[in-house]
Amino acid sequence: MANMAVNIAGVEWKNPVTTGSGTFGFGREYSEYFDLSELGAVCLKALSAVPRLGNPSPRIAETEKGILNSVGLQNPGAEAFLEKELSWLRTYDTKLIANLCGSTVEDYIAVAEILGDNVDMFELNISCPNVKEGGMAFGTSAKMIEEITSKVKAVAKVPLIVKLSPNVTDIAEMARAAEAGGADVISLINTLLGMKIDIKTRRPILHNNMGGLSGPAVKPVAVRMVYQVRQAVSIPIIGMGGITTGEDAIEFMLAGANAVAVGTAGIVDPYAWIRVRNGIEKYLDDNGIADVNDIVGTVQMNGK
Ligand code: SIN
Repeated sequence: MANMAVNIAGVEWKNPVTTGSGTFGFGREYSEYFDLSELGAVCLKALSAVPRLGNPSPRIAETEKGILNSVGLQNPGAEAFLEKELSWLRTYDTKLIANLCGSTVEDYIAVAEILGDNVDMFELNISCPNVKEGGMAFGTSAKMIEEITSKVKAVAKVPLIVKLSPNVTDIAEMARAAEAGGADVISLINTLLGMKIDIKTRRPILHNNMGGLSGPAVKPVAVRMVYQVRQAVSIPIIGMGGITTGEDAIEFMLAGANAVAVGTAGIVDPYAWIRVRNGIEKYLDDNGIADVNDIVGTVQMNGK
């Protein structure tokens, strides 16, 4: 059996598979299908310093090979999370990643301070396309990325992942800004801004008009961006965007991801995470590779 353990900024994961924040809630529903201890880490739905109601419905629309969402970072707030969810989640032998959101830099600092070291890693959500303030508004400016990363890093008691938006011209520039601000890890991609129109009503399906596209439709964009970020920074990368199978995950790792997140696939198949983990292991065993870390960034580009 190949080694599946990975070290992500000093945090030991038993395997390279985690959950895509926006799709996983706090894991209760999925724990009815599989043991969360089977995953290297569990990345939770975004948390803010104060509760958020999110956007009005409809906020989900099906698309070809994907979904559009405009949830708007609905969550009960970090204090309610600590009170109601943390001790239950800690009964599982997996690492916990809290996804942090807010409308201002101060909000992000506040949620990091409330959570302290109760989780194992933070993921800075500066890439949600569904909110007017914070989210993608921060994550599409290299200057803002560096500033907010360094400010949250200054108060963070656990390693800081910065989750990048694909809605930019130069993803490598954004990754370099996050690294310069002190990010320990980069995760990408969050969703691609999209729109779907009901041709009978001539109105967008989503109440918010636009939303974030995820699922297999975005995978080639995500693989390309992971490759470009791998060339630009030296910190670990968590790759995501349409991963549905073990083969998909291997593609991300060859492009340069040290670990992978599965999100939308779990909405279709609640065992997707386990299938992906088993698929990675099978690829390693079938190809006589002793350690999952050995494949990271080993894509051989044509013409090189
Ligand atoms: C949302 O809650 O709007 C989705 C989460 C995200 O895009 O980061």
